[in-house]
Amino acid sequence: MLQVKSVTKEYVSPGGALRILDGVSFELERGAAVSIMGPSGSGKSTLLSILGALEPPTSGEVRLGGENPYALGERELAAFRNKQIGFVFQDHCLLPQCTVLENVLLPTLVATEQADFQAQARQLLDRVGLGPRVDHVPAQLSGGEKQRVAIARALIRQPALLLCDEPTGNLDRGNADAVADLLLELQKAQQMMLVLVTHSEKLAARAPVEYELTDGRLVRR
Ligand SMILES: Nc1ncnc2c1ncn2[C@@H]1O[C@H](COP(=O)(O)OP(=O)(O)O)[C@@H](O)[C@H]1O
Ligand SMILES: [Mg+2]
Repeated sequence: MLQVKSVTKEYVSPGGALRILDGVSFELERGAAVSIMGPSGSGKSTLLSILGALEPPTSGEVRLGGENPYALGERELAAFRNKQIGFVFQDHCLLPQCTVLENVLLPTLVATEQADFQAQARQLLDRVGLGPRVDHVPAQLSGGEKQRVAIARALIRQPALLLCDEPTGNLDRGNADAVADLLLELQKAQQMMLVLVTHSEKLAARAPVEYELTDGRLVRR
């Protein structure tokens, strides 16, 4: 479960403190999905960073599986993030010199448990339709294919929480629909929690609960 309570975020600027988030609260049960829309600059990416244990809130609380990540030490925090949270960004953020398989295996490099990550990565790549492309490098793939690799990489540790920041923003309509189908299908199958930030009304509407971020507050649409 994800619990977000009265989260605020301020950035200090020469003109004074800028309040980006102003008391954001919501909860997500295991397997639940929400979408967040909002104008550019409204704090969507900032909120995802806070949920993703990347950036502490100015005040308020985030708990994932009962744990407050910001109370952890640096090493524990990194391990927590690596195991519990998957990210998919607008830009795929793949390493260009690494193969598709190597890119998917990146998050497992710091894993402490023993597992056949190679086999799991191949299985995931099959699942996203890239089985035959495991040895290709990103430059040999289309935009939609790269985003599929990014999804496989986000899922390789079987995270409890999947955070997507405009995951279809760089794709044409056909690819955007296909990537959205895949994301939602995998989210259901693996019972992950999903927070989906998007500019697309159509994509936002595919989440059972839709929010809008305006004036630092999260409101149901
Ligand atoms: N590290 C930072 N320092 C100062 N201001 C920031 C920082 N990160 C984001 N901001 C500001 O916070 C606001 C929200 O940004 P962001 O979360 O990226 O919005 P969105 O993703 O909704 O477009 C913007 O005005 C941005 O300039
Ligand atoms: Mg953003």
